[in-house]
Amino acid sequence: MKVLVTGGAGYIGSHTVLELLRLEHEVTVIDDLSNSSIESIRRVEKLSARKVKFYQGNILDKNLLRTVFGRNTFTTVIHFAGYKAVGESIKEPLSYYHNNITGTISLVEEMLKYRVHNLIFSSSATVYGSASVPPYNENSELGQPTSPYGQTKLIIEQVLQDVVSSNSDFKVSSLRYFNPIGADESGEIGEDPKGIPNNLMPFISQVASGKLDKLSIFGSDYKTEDGTCERDYVHVTDLANGHVNALNWIEKQKLSVFEVFNLGTGKPSSVLQMVNSFQQHTKQRIPFEIVDKRPGDLAAFWADVNKAERDLNWSAKKSLRNMMEDTWNWQKNNPNGY
Ligand code: WQD
Repeated sequence: MKVLVTGGAGYIGSHTVLELLRLEHEVTVIDDLSNSSIESIRRVEKLSARKVKFYQGNILDKNLLRTVFGRNTFTTVIHFAGYKAVGESIKEPLSYYHNNITGTISLVEEMLKYRVHNLIFSSSATVYGSASVPPYNENSELGQPTSPYGQTKLIIEQVLQDVVSSNSDFKVSSLRYFNPIGADESGEIGEDPKGIPNNLMPFISQVASGKLDKLSIFGSDYKTEDGTCERDYVHVTDLANGHVNALNWIEKQKLSVFEVFNLGTGKPSSVLQMVNSFQQHTKQRIPFEIVDKRPGDLAAFWADVNKAERDLNWSAKKSLRNMMEDTWNWQKNNPNGY
């Protein structure tokens, strides 16, 4: 199939592009490289021995979209492009609403103009907010996301649902990721956050590499097994394959449809369990100290993954051990990222 991947140079985007190329799909990428590197595209091409058609730019740029859609024919768009830092979104809500929501509207307008009717959207478990009780399933009540970043995902899902209601050809699969971690087993591509990592695993791996001194664990008196927060960590390669399965699913849909799917393992792990698992599987020490809770953190959430198993024929295959070993393999081979 001919697939356009927005944000395809990013962490999840590059892993998805790699899986698509390995399956010999034709892939075109748009990425403004504001939070990614062209090096990830070069490495994905090397790993797959196939070429990517790359356009640098932002999906808000209508001239760029006209060029991309005018010069290519696509069966499906996989839409990753968007700002994704929770803390930053609280400081800069307008840039998140404009970039993520207006950017998606700009993309979908062009898709409709060129009659490209299949869209796979990169959503997030954060749309469930604090209203739902885990394990979250797709019919769980959607709550108040704890950040403008989460709000943009919730609003975009609503926008896409309304476009489907207004257009009998348009089909959307919205994939709600839980906590993506790890790296391709080659160690050639991985998560490369700019500055101090906000997320747990890149922080742990930079402590292991000596780039950071120690991990601060945000709170240890939550109502969980060991008092630290629990999350559903899923290997990024499993997540990438979830997009491949969603591509096959959407191609089979005859009627317009808006369908959401959780992509997780269905198993929660606590922060302390993640630290111990990383140390056990990589033999690297992770010094840490317990500090105050981080505002907005929920104690525990994980996925009910029955729907993705049933309808996408997808389930996570990789273990925590794979996630830790692959994280460390990427970090130690690329101490400064790309
Ligand atoms: C996990 C746990 C922290 C860092 C967010 C977004 C989600 C997605 C993934 C983008 C929490 C604890 C973390 C640290 C810590 N983002 N932690 N010390 O908050 O579950 O999810 O990132 O797609 O949409 O909401 O992930 O990795 O930030 O935190 O103790 O230095 O690790 O308190 O319990 P989170 P996270």
